[in-house]
Order: sequence, then structure tokens, then C-alpha cells
Amino acid sequence: MERIPEPDLMDDDDQAEAYHLADFSEPHNHFVTLFGQYFEAGSWQGPVLDLGCGTADVTLRFADVFDAVEIDGIDGAESMLRFGRAAISSRALGHRVRLSRAYLPLDDPPRSEYGAVISNSLLHHLQDPMALWAAIKRVAMPGAPVLVMDLLRPADIGQVEQFVAKYAADAPELLRRDFRNSLRAAYRATEVEAQLQEVGLSRLRVSVASDRHLVVAGRA
Ligand SMILES: C[S@@+](CC[C@H](N)C(=O)[O-])C[C@H]1O[C@@H](n2cnc3c(N)ncnc32)[C@H](O)[C@@H]1O
Repeated sequence: MERIPEPDLMDDDDQAEAYHLADFSEPHNHFVTLFGQYFEAGSWQGPVLDLGCGTADVTLRFADVFDAVEIDGIDGAESMLRFGRAAISSRALGHRVRLSRAYLPLDDPPRSEYGAVISNSLLHHLQDPMALWAAIKRVAMPGAPVLVMDLLRPADIGQVEQFVAKYAADAPELLRRDFRNSLRAAYRATEVEAQLQEVGLSRLRVSVASDRHLVVAGRA
């Protein structure tokens, strides 16, 4: 199936609220657990950059587990960031977790260098996927852990509908629509490998993590 791009920013208020209310605890906790499995404690230190942090659900779960690091999250959609800012302030985590509105390609990152870079579910939104890899290459310190997780484009439209029925059966229609569009916009593992080669992040490895997810991990 050919890739069908979707709008990059999630800057519609209803869309952002539906995303905020959805329960992503299982995949988002899994993302944080994976980071701990790939990168041994003591082998890295912050600060951490979360690219396309959205409502900061992953950002905050990461901050809970790695409770000594500072994390900056960036996203281009104020509708999404608003929920993240409220969660940070209600948990009084503003001294360690900071969100900024910024658009990839990232011309002006919050800091010039990071000890680790993470990103969940951003890649498939990008019209130019190289914007993500170029941002990582630019801000990750040499040897910094990088973990990117995203959807994997199904083989055909029939499989897209199967996944929507299987994994979003009880979700509101708006989320089902977004999930369908995201699956169609996702990249395939071979496409991501070519992107990494083009940008020169050759130490990052792509693996297929489930029927619908891929993981890119390694040291910058
Ligand atoms: C599916 S959400 C994922 C949010 C978060 N990482 C999570 O896992 O919950 C994708 C996010 O990427 C943001 N985004 C898409 N394109 C972007 C760009 N070019 N620059 C900055 N943010 C972008 C969207 O606004 C949205 O909040």
C-alpha cells in the first residue's frame, strides 16, 4: 500500500481532547520500559528531549521512572501542549519537565545539546521524515541514547481496517479516524532504514516491535 500523508499537527481542539482522554497507558509505559531495557542505568544522563510530545503523556511517564532527569518536550500544536502543561503544573513538576511550542524542522531547540532523545508516534505525521532524523542528529550528544517508536504501515487497506477493528473497537469515532489515517501515513521498516542511512545515523537500528509498531534505537 502506498503511503497516504495525514495533516502533521494535531491542532484541532476536539482531536486534542480525544487524544488526552484516551488510555494510552499500555503502549506509553511500554515505551518507557523499552528505554530502560535498551540503555543501562548509569550509561547515560540527561537532559532528555521528547520530540512531538503532544499532551506530554510519555514525557511524564518517562519523568516518573527516570526521576533525576530534566526533560524538555516540544510540539507544534498548542491544543496538545495545553493538556501537558496542566498535568505538569498539577503535579508540580515544572522544575524538571518543560514544554515548548516548536515545529520540526527544529531551528531553535530549547537547548543546544541533549543526553538522550525520545519520540513516540511523531514520525508518521511528518511530510518530510528527514526533519526528525536531522533534529536528532543536531541535538543528541555523541553516544546519547535515541529511542523512536512509531506505527508501521500495513500491507493493504484491508489490514488497516482489521487493525482499527481490533485495536480501536471501543474508541470514539474521532480516534478511530485518526488511527486509520495514521496507519496509512506510517512508514515501513525499509523506508526508515533508508532515511537513517541518508542522514548518517548509522548506529541506530530499526526493529519490528509488533504487528503495527516499529522501534528505532541506538546511540547517536
Ligand atoms: C500522535 S501525537 C503523539 C504525541 C506523543 N508523543 C504521544 O506519544 O502521546 C503526534 C504529535 O506530533 C505533533 N507534530 C506533528 N508534526 C509536527 C512537527 N512538524 N513539529 C512539531 N510537532 C509535530 C502533533 O501536533 C502531535 O501532537
